[in-house]
Amino acid sequence: MCGIIGILGKQEAAPRLMDGLKRLEYRGYDSAGIATLVNGRIDRRRAEGKLDNLARVLEGEPLTGTAGIGHTRWATHGVPNEANAHPHATDHVAIVHNGIIENYQELRERVGDPSLFLSETDTEVVAHLVGAYLAQGLSPEEAVDCTLPLLEGAFAFVMIFAGHHDLMIGARRGSPLAIGYGEGEMFFGSDALALAPLTKRICYLEEGDWAVVRPDGATIRQLGEDGRSRPVERAVRETAVSGAMIGKGNYRHFMEKEIHEQPAVIGDTLHSYLNPAEGTLTLPGLPIDPAAVPKVTISACGTASYAGMVGKYWIEQLARLPTEVDIGSELRYRETPLPEGGLALFISQSGETMDTLEALRYAKRAGQTILSIVNVPESTIARESDAVLLTQAGPEIGVASTKAFTTQLTVLAALAMAFAKARGTLDRTREAALAAALAEVPGRAAEVLNHDAHIASIARAVADARDVFYMGRGTGYPIALEGALKLKEISYIHAEGYAAGEMKHGPIALIEEDVPVVMIAPSGPLFDKTASNVQEMVSRGGKVIFLSDAEGLTRMRTMAKPFAEIELPKVDPFVAPILYAIPIQLLAYHTAVLKGTDVDQPRNLAKSVTVE
Ligand code: G6P
Repeated sequence: MCGIIGILGKQEAAPRLMDGLKRLEYRGYDSAGIATLVNGRIDRRRAEGKLDNLARVLEGEPLTGTAGIGHTRWATHGVPNEANAHPHATDHVAIVHNGIIENYQELRERVGDPSLFLSETDTEVVAHLVGAYLAQGLSPEEAVDCTLPLLEGAFAFVMIFAGHHDLMIGARRGSPLAIGYGEGEMFFGSDALALAPLTKRICYLEEGDWAVVRPDGATIRQLGEDGRSRPVERAVRETAVSGAMIGKGNYRHFMEKEIHEQPAVIGDTLHSYLNPAEGTLTLPGLPIDPAAVPKVTISACGTASYAGMVGKYWIEQLARLPTEVDIGSELRYRETPLPEGGLALFISQSGETMDTLEALRYAKRAGQTILSIVNVPESTIARESDAVLLTQAGPEIGVASTKAFTTQLTVLAALAMAFAKARGTLDRTREAALAAALAEVPGRAAEVLNHDAHIASIARAVADARDVFYMGRGTGYPIALEGALKLKEISYIHAEGYAAGEMKHGPIALIEEDVPVVMIAPSGPLFDKTASNVQEMVSRGGKVIFLSDAEGLTRMRTMAKPFAEIELPKVDPFVAPILYAIPIQLLAYHTAVLKGTDVDQPRNLAKSVTVE
C-alpha cells in the first residue's frame, strides 16, 4: 500500500525521492507525488498513475531543494487523481500519509472553512489542523503534538514545514515507519527497502511513536493514553536489506525472478530447521509445550492463508492436533472462543497486514500464545509475537506472492513435524523419511522449473478462457485455491479453486466445451478419487490440465486423456504441495505475460495491505 520516503539531505532531494519511490512501487499504487522546500517554501509535483507520469511532470517543471517527502498512493478515500495524490499541503506544511484517518469528517468540521479543502482524501485534514496550530504561533513540534491526540485510525505520516530546512516530523500508529540515519543526513521510509541505498542504519518506530528528525539525529516521543507525549529511546540497527537485492537480474519481471529463486530460498529456509545429514529437525525453543496445546488457531490473509490451510492438514495429520484456519478479517470480528492454553499462529510475508495483525491482537487478548511465520524480522507481527519462525525468502517485490508462499509451507512442514515429535505421533523412522523428503525439495523444485517452456505453451489455452477451474484434494485443495488466486491476480481471468470432491455440488454445471480445469493430482492415497473427477471433466468437454508424477500420468492415460500434462517429480505426498505450487505460479505468470498485463503491479492490488 502507500509508500513513504522523507529526506533531509545534502544533495538535491527530488532525484533521490524518485529513486526511493521506485523501490516502493512494488507495494502497489495508483498516483504519486513529491514535495520539497525551495527557498523555504513548499513546492510539490504530483501525478495520477505510474511514476513515469510524475517523472514527466518533473522534467517539465523540476523541483530543487535538499529536503523533501515523497509518496506512492493506493487510493482509499477519493479516486486516484492528481488532486487526491500526496503530498497534501498548506502554505506552511506538507504531509505524506499511509493508513486511514477514521474521524476525518469530524475533523474537517473542526477545521471549518470547506473551501480550504482541495481533495477528497482523509489525509488533507491533518495538514489543515497542523497548519492552523502553526498559524496560532506554535512551533512545528508543538503543532504536531497538539494534532496527534485528535487523530483516530491507523497511520504513518511524515511532514516538512515551510521555513524549516532542517526538520522533518514523522509519526506511527498502526502503519510502519522507519528512520534512516546517514552521515549528516536523515531519512524516513515506510520500509527498509525504500532506504536501502541511502543507509543501512535504521530505527523502526513503535506504535504511538513520533519523531522529530534533524540532520544530526532524531528525538523520539511516545504518545500516551492520556494524550501526552514522553521521550523514549529506540534502538538503531543495521539492516541486512541491500539495494542490490532488489534488481530484476536477467528476468523480465520480479515475479518470474522470484519463482525461479524458489529452490535457493526454500533451501535457505530449510537450513535453519533441518539437519539433513542426521535426518533430524530442530525448531528454536517454542514458548509452549505442543503436547499440552488443546488447539492451534491459524490466521492470515490471501496467499498466506492458503499456506495456513496446508499447515492445518499437516498439523492435524502428523501431530493429531486440532487446528483451525481463519482469514484475518474474519477471526478478528467473529468473536470465536479460543481455548485456554491455545496456540495462535499468524502467517505473513510482510508482517504488516492489518487484518492479520488485528487477529493477532484479538488472540493475545484471548490469552493465546502467539507464534508467527514472517519474512520480515523487524515487522510489527514479528515484534508482537511470543516467538517467530522466519522464512528466508528475501525481499519479495512482485505483488503476487510466490517464494514467500513456498517458504511459508517449508516452515509449516517443519513445524508440523516438530509438533508431531513432541506429541509422540512421529516415530524416528518416519521423521527421517519426512526430513529426507523435505531435504530433497530444493532439488526437486529446480526440476519443476525445467518445465517452464512447456507450461508457457499450455498458458495459450488458459489465456483465451473466460473461466478457469482449479481442483485438488487434501493438501492439493489449498494449492488449487492458490492457483486460482494467482491467475485472478495477474491475468484478470475469472478463476475458482475447489476441493475436487465438491465438483458435483455445483462447479460441474459450468464445465462445458473448452473450459480449462487445472487438476492437482500427485500420486498417493487420494489419486484414484481425483482421477475419476478428471474423467467426469473430460467427458463434458473440459480441457483438463493434469499435474501429476510419472506414475500418476501413466495411470491417468488408461482412464481418460487430459488436454495437457505437466509432469512433476515423484515425491512423498507430504511435500507435494510445496512442489505443485510452482507450476501453478508459472501457469499464471505465462498467461499474464500473454495477456500483456502489468505482472508485478497488477491493477488495484497492493503488496502489503495495511488498511482494513
Ligand atoms: C496482499 C498481497 C498478497 C498477500 C496478502 C497477505 O493481498 O497482494 O500477495 O498474500 O496481501 O500478505 P502478507 O504480507 O500478510 O503475507
